[in-house]
Amino acid sequence: MSEKKVVLITGGNSGLGKIIAQNLISKGYVVYGTSRNAELPKIAGMHFLKLNITSDTETKDAINEIIKKEKRIDIIINNAGITLTGPTLGFSAEDFKNILDTNLIGPFRLLKAALSLPNKPKLVINITSLNGFLSLPNFGLYCASKFAMEGLGLALRYELGPLTKVVNVAPGALFMESAKKMPHKPAREKFPLLSWLMPLTFPEDVSVVIEKLINASSVPPRVLVGRDAYIINLMQKILPSSIFDRIVFYIWRKK
Ligand SMILES: NC(=O)c1ccc[n+]([C@@H]2O[C@H](COP(=O)([O-])OP(=O)(O)OC[C@H]3O[C@@H](n4cnc5c(N)ncnc54)[C@H](OP(=O)(O)O)[C@@H]3O)[C@@H](O)[C@H]2O)c1
Repeated sequence: MSEKKVVLITGGNSGLGKIIAQNLISKGYVVYGTSRNAELPKIAGMHFLKLNITSDTETKDAINEIIKKEKRIDIIINNAGITLTGPTLGFSAEDFKNILDTNLIGPFRLLKAALSLPNKPKLVINITSLNGFLSLPNFGLYCASKFAMEGLGLALRYELGPLTKVVNVAPGALFMESAKKMPHKPAREKFPLLSWLMPLTFPEDVSVVIEKLINASSVPPRVLVGRDAYIINLMQKILPSSIFDRIVFYIWRKK
């Protein structure tokens, strides 16, 4: 059995997951990523498995395949996720079910399969979001999925610890191509001051945090990454909720 730690990260083919995976590969971890595509991606040093996280069978098969090869999975990073942006009631109930199936029930499926193994993972990292504690217009379904994931992660932390440590990592808005595709005008465009106060976070910063958590002897319930996540978390703690509410209304009503 290899001495190197074995990491399973869902996604890993693009965006944040790819950057986290590549950083861990460069530090000598054995990294398994996943993709829904039949033609699996090729990223140097990374093993890929076919996985649609909304399928029980594919989830169990992916876990079994890693166990067959590596005998264990040390770390699971629940990264795969989808976003739907636009007026919340413009989406269908089917859209809502789909996003929950990927962002919330998917990690549940994966952890159920992985935690049933005799060699249980030592660490679970859930990539949640700033939108796991800040709900915003045009992000209703996404925020609902991330708030729920924060709750699920915390419950599992207390159920599985200390043998399996669980931590939620909540990044702010990331500096990535996908941010440009939003169908509405983001708050940062309406108030350029916000871009200065709360710049987008580099995904590389998240990957550094993940690596630190993997090497830490204990992990906190939640780690924030990015200035926006810190500032908003602080504002929610120190401002009366009526004032915070007015600020959000003001920002989002401005054309
Ligand atoms: N972007 C941001 O600003 C931001 C901020 C905070 C948190 N996050 C969170 O960070 C995570 C990654 O986001 P990202 O922006 O990097 O997204 P992304 O570039 O769109 O990547 C999403 C990944 O999820 C995988 N995926 C989607 N649906 C799947 C399914 N049903 N089964 C298995 N894999 C699936 C995709 O893999 P395939 O397409 O290859 O299957 C892809 O690798 C998400 O959980 C997101 O909520 C993002």
